[in-house]
Amino acid sequence: RGALLYGPPGTGKTQLARVLAHEYKAVMIHVSAADLESMYVGETEKMIKGLFNLASMIAPSIIFIDEADALFRKRGAEDRTWERSRLNELLNQQDGLTAAKMPPFLLLATNHPNDMDDAVMRRVPARLHIGLPTSAAREKIFSIFLQEETIEPDLKLKELAARTASFTGSDIKTICTQAALISQHELDKSEKSSETRVLTRAHFDAAFARTGPTVSSSALQQIRDFAKKFDPSATLKMDRLDAIPMPPKQQLGTNFAYHSRSSMGTIWG
Ligand SMILES: Nc1ncnc2c1ncn2[C@@H]1O[C@H](COP(=O)(O)OP(=O)(O)OP(=O)(O)O)[C@@H](O)[C@H]1O
Ligand SMILES: [Mg+2]
Repeated sequence: RGALLYGPPGTGKTQLARVLAHEYKAVMIHVSAADLESMYVGETEKMIKGLFNLASMIAPSIIFIDEADALFRKRGAEDRTWERSRLNELLNQQDGLTAAKMPPFLLLATNHPNDMDDAVMRRVPARLHIGLPTSAAREKIFSIFLQEETIEPDLKLKELAARTASFTGSDIKTICTQAALISQHELDKSEKSSETRVLTRAHFDAAFARTGPTVSSSALQQIRDFAKKFDPSATLKMDRLDAIPMPPKQQLGTNFAYHSRSSMGTIWG
């Protein structure tokens, strides 16, 4: 009936939801909580109701609510009634679905699972932790993003994977984009600008100097705390992965977290 994808930002939760819909040959209705948030009081409930109606008509279907914590935060005494009513609308809709022949599957994604309301959590019994990629996974991710690039022969993807402990898939994408741009920039300045660019170790060194891992250890700790309570089997894998030491800050430059996520595709300096 429902599942929760949780993990640090940039680990591919949104992408995975798309792949799941494709694999299961289901129509996915993708809504970002931010879109619903911006609506007028009362509109969000109507939208949620409409979502479920539509999804029921086009079964098999998946309702995917991205960044779900923004919409379904824990209910506290200080909550405004309209925030409560949108939560209730979701819960009502979900509970009303049991009668449907092929009820839509509710898929939620969040970077802040601790903030999610307990009543919502009960509706999504399956939890899937999407964590930082292992070294083998990072090597694979590099191979995807460098598919169309020419790499200098003695630079191996294994080496790049070893240098990116605690990077997310999204961080690796940034590194590849940066290295390609630096290489292209160099080529454009040279006499040989009509040749195809080759990515060298020096280009990656320069990319690493500009951008680093974006997930903080406190963010990882919060996710671990959540898993301990709600998804204990996932913590074993986290212990193995998070044991990797974070590279020292001075290696990463200042404000790296801010820069590397916001300036994809630009070269500084
Ligand atoms: N495991 C991965 N394999 C391949 N690409 C990845 C992976 N993780 C992230 N990426 C790349 O990073 C991009 C951003 O990932 P995505 O938006 O799916 O992450 P997210 O977990 O939803 O992050 P956020 O919480 O910030 O929304 C993807 O479009 C993809 O290109
Ligand atoms: Mg996302």
